[in-house]
Amino acid sequence: MTRQVAIIGAGPSGLLLGHLLKAAGIDVVIIERQAQAYVEARIRAGVLETVTTDLMRRLGIDARMNADGLIEDGFNLASGDQLIRIDIKRLTGRHVTVYGQTELTRDLFAAAQERGLEAICEASDLAIHDAEGAPFVTFVRGGAIQRIDAQFVIGCDGFHGPSRRLIADAGGAKSFEREYPFGWLGILADVPPCHPELIYANTDDGFALASMRSPTRSRYYVQVPLTETLENWPEDRLWDELARRFDPICDFGVTRGPALEMSIAPLRSFVFETMRHGRLFLAGDAAHIVPPTGAKGLNLAASDVAYLSDALVDYFRSGSEEGLIGYERKALSRIWKAERFSWYLTKLMHRFPEDGPFEHRMQAAELDYVAQSETMQTVIAENYVGLPL
Ligand code: APR
Ligand code: PHB
Repeated sequence: MTRQVAIIGAGPSGLLLGHLLKAAGIDVVIIERQAQAYVEARIRAGVLETVTTDLMRRLGIDARMNADGLIEDGFNLASGDQLIRIDIKRLTGRHVTVYGQTELTRDLFAAAQERGLEAICEASDLAIHDAEGAPFVTFVRGGAIQRIDAQFVIGCDGFHGPSRRLIADAGGAKSFEREYPFGWLGILADVPPCHPELIYANTDDGFALASMRSPTRSRYYVQVPLTETLENWPEDRLWDELARRFDPICDFGVTRGPALEMSIAPLRSFVFETMRHGRLFLAGDAAHIVPPTGAKGLNLAASDVAYLSDALVDYFRSGSEEGLIGYERKALSRIWKAERFSWYLTKLMHRFPEDGPFEHRMQAAELDYVAQSETMQTVIAENYVGLPL
């Protein structure tokens, strides 16, 4: 039997797309390498634009998000001990929602089960065949090789998945990359946040972020050199560092507690401009990576799948390929603007090893300008809440 669509990867891109297609009556299957519990436990950013919350609402998978998500009307940039509030509600009329990707993924998996959206997990050695002709996917599950034929294969398999590699190997694809000379050391703990809103801080010791998951769960990060390892960072050392950076500028001071998770993640900007190869399409992290400054990763995945699901639904309803042909151009136009904003905020807020006193003064001057200029604040707010689809 040939399925209409086979999606590779059950991260946010794959699950959202699967639900959107299933809701339109399309015969879709998702194939995931990891176990469901593993995918659900991954900890990633937690700031949702309306692009993402609107999709969850449209799908009717929004009950928990509505109940537990925190509506944020503003966020803060800190320059030394000066706190600059970006009043996103007043400047844009909109807001963002703090709701962890972990929770969103759980909701999407639970709804998949209820709605009969088929997600095959623990599928190893996946390979895509004949992407330009009559595509099919093979993988190993429970020791047996399986094959699924599909009219379209969608690579939602993240940065390390096989879909983009296949397109790259075919030749002629264009990609753009910037690696940053530092990473983020993160900690998650069941302690109240130090401030009611997020704070992105540029300090003499480097960047730090105070974020949250709920009124009782905090998420913090500090900038560290890429050579750092978790062994060098006992919890107390990290809490000391966070207190030094945030106590002078935040409402309540940093509350310490046992770490639920600690990790170090590198920062990268990456765009793969070839999002289609025959009947194989890419969406989400398979096609692009942003540094986490600004929390655009998940929201870009949501806009990709919003465009792609419309195009696929249109194709199956009317036979028109117009949407599929236009997908890459439409998606890239939004992707590059989110790449620009993430890069800009990363440059503005971090200490780069190659920078000297002059560059530090430039950052301080720009932050001072932001503090004084409503126009600058509006530009930042507009990008932070997400550009229109
Ligand atoms: N076969 C099947 N599945 C695979 C394979 C493979 N060979 N390789 C990767 N995958 C799966 C991964 O296990 C993962 O669950 O694809 C999924 C990709 O998910 P994400 O990396 O989360 O990417 P995406 O869904 O595009 O999400 C984008 O969410 O995870 C964040 O940082 C990410 O914010 C970004 C957003
Ligand atoms: C997070 O809460 O993990 C988070 C929030 C905002 C970011 C990045 C990460 O920009």
